[in-house]
Amino acid sequence: MKKYGFIGCGNMGGAIASAVAKTIPGECLFLSNRTKKKAEDLALTIGAMVSDNIEIAKNCDVIFLGVKPQMMEEVLAGISGYLKKRNTADFVLVTMAAALGIEDIRRMSGVDARVLRIMPNTPVSVGEGIVLYAYDEKLSEADAAEIVGSLKAAGECIALSEKLIDAGSVVAGCGPAFAQMFIEALADGGVAVGLPRKESVKLAAQMLLGSAKLTLVSGKTPGELKDAVCSPGGSTIEGVKALEDKGFRGAAMDAVLASYEKTLRMKTKK
Ligand SMILES: NC(=O)c1ccc[n+]([C@@H]2O[C@H](COP(=O)([O-])OP(=O)(O)OC[C@H]3O[C@@H](n4cnc5c(N)ncnc54)[C@H](OP(=O)(O)O)[C@@H]3O)[C@@H](O)[C@H]2O)c1
Repeated sequence: MKKYGFIGCGNMGGAIASAVAKTIPGECLFLSNRTKKKAEDLALTIGAMVSDNIEIAKNCDVIFLGVKPQMMEEVLAGISGYLKKRNTADFVLVTMAAALGIEDIRRMSGVDARVLRIMPNTPVSVGEGIVLYAYDEKLSEADAAEIVGSLKAAGECIALSEKLIDAGSVVAGCGPAFAQMFIEALADGGVAVGLPRKESVKLAAQMLLGSAKLTLVSGKTPGELKDAVCSPGGSTIEGVKALEDKGFRGAAMDAVLASYEKTLRMKTKK
C-alpha cells in the first residue's frame, strides 16, 4: 500500500488530508506541520500518523505540499537533499499552491520529480469541492489516476491543461468568496423584508445549492433556467431588472477578470 504524506496541514492541506483519509487507511497517512499540535489534532480526528517533513520526504510515495506559496521554496529546500537520494520514479510531489506551476516545484525541489498540480476549493471540506488537476509527461496517466482517485471524497476532480489551471482556479477557487457574498446579500435583502437572519441565510444558501444542482443536471443553460422563473409581468423579472440596472453580471465578470489578473501579476513577481 502506498504511503501518503502531507507537509502543511492548515486549512487546505488539512481538508485534503481529511478527504484522502476517507479512501486511504490511516496507517498509510503521515501528517507534518510546523506547529506540531495541528498535525497531532488532525491525526487524531482522521486516524492518521504524525510525522515530520524529512521522514515524509524519505519514505512517502505521494507527498502533498500544503504550505503557502511563499513558504514553498524554503520547505522544498529543507527536503531536497532527501528527495535527491531517491529514485524519481518512487515518489510524486503533489502541489496545491496557487500561482506555482509544475516546473516551479521541480526547480525548488532540485529534483526532476514527477509532479501532480492540484487546485482545490474550500467546499472540498464538505465533500462538494472541485479539485482541478494537471500533470505532464513525466507522470503516467495510471499514477495520476491513482492519486486523483484518493481525492474522490473531496468532490469533483476535473483535469485541465496546465495553461488553464489559473483561469479555472479563479472561477472554482475564488468563486466561493463571490458566492458567499451573493448569499450574504440575498440574506440581507430577506432581512430587509422581514425574515429572521438565520432563516434568511438558510433560504439563500439552500436556494443557491438547488439552483446549482439544476444547472448541472437539467442540461439547460443558466439563461433558460432564469427565463423559466420569470413569468411575464411577474415579480422575478422586476428583480432581474434591478440586478441588470446595477450591472450585476458585469460586476461578476469583472471579479473573475480582476482575480485572474492578480494571479498573473503574482506569477510574474516570483
Ligand atoms: N485556502 C484556500 O482556499 C486554497 C485554495 C486552493 C489552494 N490553496 C493552497 O493551499 C496551500 C495552503 O494554504 P492554506 O490556506 O491551507 O494555508 P494555511 O492554513 O496557512 O496552511 C499552511 C500550513 O503550512 C504549515 N507550514 C508552514 N511552514 C511549514 C513547514 N516548514 N513545514 C511544515 N508545515 C509548514 C503551517 O503551519 P503553522 O500551523 O505553523 O502555521 C500551516 O498549517 C497554499 O499553497 C494555497 O495556495 C489554498
